[in-house]
Amino acid sequence: MDAKLLFWTAAIVDLGMVCLIAVLGVRHARRGEIARHRRAMKIASLLVVAFLAAYLVKVRFLGREDMSVWSTLDVWILRVHELFVVQMLGGGITAWIFGRKLLGTRVVSRDPADPKPDPRQARIHRIAGRSGVIGAVLAFVMALGVLLGMYLRAFGFR
Ligand code: HEM
Repeated sequence: MDAKLLFWTAAIVDLGMVCLIAVLGVRHARRGEIARHRRAMKIASLLVVAFLAAYLVKVRFLGREDMSVWSTLDVWILRVHELFVVQMLGGGITAWIFGRKLLGTRVVSRDPADPKPDPRQARIHRIAGRSGVIGAVLAFVMALGVLLGMYLRAFGFR
């Protein structure tokens, strides 16, 4: 298999794991299991960072894709995928920043002696986090389309 195709196949497995772990992380938050929620979101974030680092290495050693041979539809699928990646990153980073503001409050520590969280910060965290996770899932769905196009071209069906 071509090295670039192998890279993108590994990348989609990585993004699939990000989605799975983030969705489990949301479930933990809904159940009030905040330590498990933090752990899941940390692992999902590290997998995103690992992809971004691997992508830089890929561009350095394998180069970019030759999009002149892509159909217009394939290019559009890629652009929509990239928009959802931006949603994932924007939502995730915002959720991370506002999640840190919740540290030391009773919603995290479960200690009634600790201060209550600022409801506005908790709400922003929740909305940004949901938006980030939805972005990740939609980016994954679109990435399936991008990868399918790559396989079809690699095996001469397009
Ligand atoms: C510093 C790290 C984090 C901490 C301390 C943290 C903490 C919390 C807490 C305490 C809640 C419950 C809030 C409430 O009851 O109102 C919560 C909910 C939530 N968190 Fe986080 N979180 C962190 C990181 C993240 C990240 C990185 C994401 C997403 C990318 C995320 C997504 C969510 C979502 C979607 C909910 C709402 C679940 C629901 O009720 O639907 N969190 N988080």
